[in-house]
Amino acid sequence: MASLAIAGGTPVRTDPYPPWPEVGDEEVEAVAEVVRGGAWGGFPEPGPHAAAFEERFAQYQGARHGILMSNGTVTMEVALKALGIGWGDEVIVPTLTFSATAYAPIAAGALPVFVDVTEATWTIDPDAVEAAITPRTRAIMPVHLGHQMADMDRIMAIAAAYDLAVVEDCAHAHGQRWNDVGAGCIGAFGSFSHQSSKILTAGEGGSLLTDDDRLARLAHSIIDCGRPKDDAEREYTFGANYRLGELHAALLEVALDRFPGQQVRRAELGALFQEQVATVPGVRVMPPDPRITRWSFYRYLVAIDPDAFAGRTHGPVCDALEAEGVGAWTGYEPMSRYDLFQPALSRLPVTVEHAARLDPSRMSFPVAEAAGLREAVYIDEHVFRSDEDGVAQAVEAIAKIQRHADELPEG
Ligand SMILES: Cc1ncc(COP(=O)(O)O)c(C=O)c1O
Repeated sequence: MASLAIAGGTPVRTDPYPPWPEVGDEEVEAVAEVVRGGAWGGFPEPGPHAAAFEERFAQYQGARHGILMSNGTVTMEVALKALGIGWGDEVIVPTLTFSATAYAPIAAGALPVFVDVTEATWTIDPDAVEAAITPRTRAIMPVHLGHQMADMDRIMAIAAAYDLAVVEDCAHAHGQRWNDVGAGCIGAFGSFSHQSSKILTAGEGGSLLTDDDRLARLAHSIIDCGRPKDDAEREYTFGANYRLGELHAALLEVALDRFPGQQVRRAELGALFQEQVATVPGVRVMPPDPRITRWSFYRYLVAIDPDAFAGRTHGPVCDALEAEGVGAWTGYEPMSRYDLFQPALSRLPVTVEHAARLDPSRMSFPVAEAAGLREAVYIDEHVFRSDEDGVAQAVEAIAKIQRHADELPEG
């Protein structure tokens, strides 16, 4: 008789983990109040709820300014445009990320240059960043992936040495702190997503954080059709409408009320999970960098060794975890394999230089490819809002799958 739920056995967990997002009367009242008030849109920018959220979120992370907009993709495009990055420029991004990080430079007119990630954190490898710098390089976009943060000490030192801007992709890092400085407050800009799965969500939305008054003004202008935001200079920009409506902004204010408690719980249960799952054969944990001084995460990432799972890779393991009642995902395809960024398949400008130097199919990203194609298992955050039993069941599910890996479908 089969043991694994995916093969017909009994699942480890039958009760669902807590749903996301958490919804209560507060959300309903916040939206109802906006509906009754009639000021639903994001114009004039920022609306009162947007402005209130911007201020509170910036304060929570430790930045002087927050700029709320429609999602966490255009945030990065706007950041690069505000920094004056565009045609002919190169922006260094990690190969292991969501496509939005690489889309943003292209949307701004620049070229994304992929580099590998480190084995210890699966975040951008500072040595690879340094090796990829050319006279055209203008910015580095580290991604704080999963439960980690990129090595911001090294990234900021490299940026200072080569006079480059840093835009942090913090879509997974609301609440994190690095050496007591908030994620998104270390580089020139920090970019956050408030999309449905993210840990500070209104279903849609994105925030930029910055300490720089002028960059904040420019970002506000770029998302508001280029309207000037400084009465003295009357500085128009080349902008479009990336505003977020007030219904979403009001939901974000409630989400931010709930956030600190959720963050503490995630950190406690994340630490417990890490300790327990490290004992499962074939599972490698990547403890959070000790320079992370406030831990908060979107997904907890582990690496499986296919040899210890009867040769199966992360796909069948994640399917089996789902069948056992534990949400799991294989994560992002490495950008080196992503169609949009294959010069032969996309309309990415195939200049002689690009073909020779920046064609991902001719480059090597061994760590990102191993993670993205075989090893990465992203454990859903709902495990970390449950309780000690929920964590123990998630660990037992992984251990059970490892013990009975020969029951898994090939793959
Ligand atoms: C790493 C990363 N960057 C950027 C984004 C883009 O955010 P959004 O979906 O709000 O555009 C996401 C998630 O969707 C993400 O996971």
